[in-house]
Amino acid sequence: MKLTKTLLTLSLLSATSLAQAGEVEVLHWWTSGGEAKSVAVLKQLMEQEGHTWKDFAVAGGGGESAMTVLKTRAVSGNPPSAAQIKGHDIQEWAGLGFLTNLNDVAAEGHWDDIIPPMINQVMKYDGEYVAVPVNVHRVNWMWANPEVFKKAGAKVPTNLDEFFAAADKIKAAGFIPLAHGGQPWQDATVFEAVALDVLGPQDYVKAFVDLDMDALSGDKMVQVFTQFKKLHNYIDDNSPGRDWNVATSMVINGDAAMQIMGDWAKGEFTAAGKVPGQDYLCFPALGTQGEFTYNVDSFAFFELKDAENIKAQKALAKTIISPQFQEVFNLNKGSIPVRTDMDMAKFDQCAMDSMKEFKSSSTDGGLVPSMAHGMSTTSYAQGAIFDVVTNFFNDRDADPKQAAQKLAKAVKAAM
Ligand code: GAL
Repeated sequence: MKLTKTLLTLSLLSATSLAQAGEVEVLHWWTSGGEAKSVAVLKQLMEQEGHTWKDFAVAGGGGESAMTVLKTRAVSGNPPSAAQIKGHDIQEWAGLGFLTNLNDVAAEGHWDDIIPPMINQVMKYDGEYVAVPVNVHRVNWMWANPEVFKKAGAKVPTNLDEFFAAADKIKAAGFIPLAHGGQPWQDATVFEAVALDVLGPQDYVKAFVDLDMDALSGDKMVQVFTQFKKLHNYIDDNSPGRDWNVATSMVINGDAAMQIMGDWAKGEFTAAGKVPGQDYLCFPALGTQGEFTYNVDSFAFFELKDAENIKAQKALAKTIISPQFQEVFNLNKGSIPVRTDMDMAKFDQCAMDSMKEFKSSSTDGGLVPSMAHGMSTTSYAQGAIFDVVTNFFNDRDADPKQAAQKLAKAVKAAM
């Protein structure tokens, strides 16, 4: 009798734990110090709920390698539960029939009310939620080491002219003015900051969202390439191939003065125990004050077969939007929460500035999608732009006028 009872209890117990024990396999490219700390929060929360986390990390900032690996996996009929897929790519994956419908989780969590419509729209395909937004990154940031500025007697720049003046002094004092990693997506990140400054938000949108041929090849774009080229004089010879977080560490260590990079760079300063306003400075890149280049990270959810894994997958979607995750994750990641109803008390000055500018730029036309991070156009057009930008940046003799023409031609061919 006793034994039967024990067996019954045991089998009931294992039935409950089985009912919860789904597995989520999550593909991402968050492998730097700050990024890894951020994604660990999600793993921990899922494990607390009794699910198993299978990490599918593919290193490489910007996610190019991760996307290549994902394609192979999905095509072979074995997709992960969720993958870090952003912007236009979400529509593409959904259009091919790979993604699952999350409308029930979204309705329960009132996503339509707590996430800005501009972001929701990208997460939906044919009216169905197929992806979940994680955060809002601002890309047009500059990170600086105040000690280096002090030693060089240079002033923190608020526009391109001031940047060149400061960079000359910093170089003369024996420091690297601009920490940079020579990889196509990093070149494009710097290029789009210069483009936003020189073109202004309206022409930026014409060029990188509308893919307007005149905007891509016109005089103002020639000017963008001209200024972009000048920046190369302030980068060290070891930059080719360097990872973005290694470039950030050069600013942290005081070898370099500045880096132009999205606020995932702040995740590295935070992980190193550095305090903004004291150990480092954050300010809008070049002359882009009041403007905001956004990059929204998101996970797209794949159609699965196993019932327990589907349950775990839904729990993952719910957890990502939860205030608890939104707070801890974004504190580590350097971004701001995607929910508009969050208490920002624990966030630092850079995040507060980011939130303020995100809100104000969304009403005054200064809010633009990042081309370098897959927000403004298709991956095909983006790839074409990357090629032209990188080839130009790495060729000392490249001509800005020809580059602008090449840019328009390459984009046209990719359309
Ligand atoms: C971006 C991504 C960020 C950050 C960065 C560097 O594309 O949106 O979250 O991870 O790459 O890896």
